[in-house]
Amino acid sequence: MATLTLNNGVKMPQEGFGVYQIDDLETCKQAVKDALEIGYRSLDTAQAYHNEEAVGAAIAESSVDRQDIFLTTKVWISNYGYEQTKASVEESLRKLQTDYLDLVLLHQPYGDYYGAYRALEDMYEEGKLRAIGVSNFYPDRYVDLVKFNRIVPAVNQLETHVFHQRQIDREYLQKYGTQIESWGPFAEGRNDFFNNATLKEIGAEHDKTAAQVALRFLIQEGVVIIPKSTHQKRMQENLDIWDFALTAAEIEQITALDTKTSLFFDHADPQRVESVTQFTL
Ligand SMILES: NC(=O)c1ccc[n+]([C@@H]2O[C@H](COP(=O)([O-])OP(=O)(O)OC[C@H]3O[C@@H](n4cnc5c(N)ncnc54)[C@H](OP(=O)(O)O)[C@@H]3O)[C@@H](O)[C@H]2O)c1
Repeated sequence: MATLTLNNGVKMPQEGFGVYQIDDLETCKQAVKDALEIGYRSLDTAQAYHNEEAVGAAIAESSVDRQDIFLTTKVWISNYGYEQTKASVEESLRKLQTDYLDLVLLHQPYGDYYGAYRALEDMYEEGKLRAIGVSNFYPDRYVDLVKFNRIVPAVNQLETHVFHQRQIDREYLQKYGTQIESWGPFAEGRNDFFNNATLKEIGAEHDKTAAQVALRFLIQEGVVIIPKSTHQKRMQENLDIWDFALTAAEIEQITALDTKTSLFFDHADPQRVESVTQFTL
């Protein structure tokens, strides 16, 4: 398992475990405990997932020390604004049973994300947050945020997978020193992901599955990944990607799968903005 160094010197495992859509708290707690036992050392939750308590309980009950875990949460839009963001991060700390977070991201680029980001900057400078960043910030909003704030985001978490490879986003993130992190590394199975012929054929060459090839591609492209599964066998499968390497020709074949389009939604689409901003915690 590789670790990457963020723009402030903090080290982050290149692979972690995501807990989106694990709504049942017992299931979430068990999944996180299993993930830690199998060897995951980075966890990705969010205020909007309503499972921070379960993640906190799993960490508390596991045999892995808190300081050996890279823990990420995200602030939801309805908690944006300077004071409310600070209060909501304190609440996240309480739910996660910890006195610091490794990474806190702004979940969406809507509302008073400037006030929210300045709250994160101050909490970072107070030492409560080891790194801060954003999620779903496309190049225009990302560059704007960089230009008018003190701290360049350490991470931008974006939908990134073989069908949406984010070359332009990556150019801007690299220019200003922000690490790209993939959400939906399997596009949640859309586009018949796990049966893709190219991924399966390449997988057969290495005795790996389509899922493993897709994750390995992102790893070799320098992307941080946080695949989600509630099944132990798949958690293990998703972690068993560090013992093989794709060739340059295979990388080229997978690069050709890029459609440069989201399989979910466009965050700049006004209808999407209308629907996401309705969702309050
Ligand atoms: N910032 C954001 O806006 C945002 C948005 C979405 C997600 N995220 C983060 O990114 C993480 C990952 O994304 P995601 O959960 O949306 O989707 P994902 O990881 O692309 O896909 C998860 C789906 O794939 C299945 N799966 C996992 N491993 C598999 C394997 N080896 N073979 C076959 N099926 C497999 C899972 O099923 P089972 O669970 O049944 O195994 C689940 O249905 C999230 O958990 C969350 O932490 C962030």
